[in-house]
Amino acid sequence: MIAVNPPTALLMLKLAPLKPGDWVIQNAANSAVGQYLITFARQQGLKTINLVRREMLVAPLKAMGADVVLVDGEDLQKRVRVATGGGQVGLGIDAVGGAATQRLASAVSPGGTVVNYGMLSGEVCHMAPADLIFRGITLTGFWLTTWFTRTPADEVRRTMQTVVDQVAGGALHAKVEATYPLTQITDAVRHAGQPGREGKVLLVPTER
Ligand SMILES: NC(=O)c1ccc[n+]([C@@H]2O[C@H](COP(=O)([O-])OP(=O)(O)OC[C@H]3O[C@@H](n4cnc5c(N)ncnc54)[C@H](OP(=O)(O)O)[C@@H]3O)[C@@H](O)[C@H]2O)c1
Repeated sequence: MIAVNPPTALLMLKLAPLKPGDWVIQNAANSAVGQYLITFARQQGLKTINLVRREMLVAPLKAMGADVVLVDGEDLQKRVRVATGGGQVGLGIDAVGGAATQRLASAVSPGGTVVNYGMLSGEVCHMAPADLIFRGITLTGFWLTTWFTRTPADEVRRTMQTVVDQVAGGALHAKVEATYPLTQITDAVRHAGQPGREGKVLLVPTER
């Protein structure tokens, strides 16, 4: 878990020119990537607007450092404007695709960037030409595998060291909802596919 989700969160924050005090908006904010992103953004002086699909996640995400937590849906642009006091939202982080991408794009400030890194809805990213043309929003993608293959070894090492230090220091941790022995892999996969999980589902080696 250390090698994928934390660097993904850290690296996506570099995909737009942001300065302390700027806002970042993300959906699927309760995901592991989303929670790491809240931590990294806070360390960099950035503020986060976090979109979830269950009201019950608002309090726990705020407790872990989220500045604003909203249930994704209608009127998002207006609700974000109110919550940020019209602040600069320079980056949108999209794990969902479909209409959720468009909602993020409409909440990002003119000239901002939306990064899609997941396909949780299974739908094609929607983005209105008016956002691309008149508001100058850029839609781009991120895949950690590509980053690993294109980045000099020194930089990869530095990034991974940052992540390892944060895990060792306790700033980053992963919630685990359940563990299964390898013999119950079918149950584990079924469990992992359920909505509303409170953490990762892990496979552990079976004792002989
Ligand atoms: N591009 C890359 O390099 C890269 C790297 C790492 C991960 N990823 C992707 O990032 C995403 C998150 O991964 P993770 O391991 O952090 O996830 P995770 O911890 O397993 O959490 C999954 C999250 O997705 C939410 N979700 C599931 N289906 C959804 C939908 N249709 N609409 C909105 N939210 C939905 C869940 O919400 P509930 O809590 O409400 O169920 C939960 O918060 C995955 O799509 C993964 O493939 C991409």
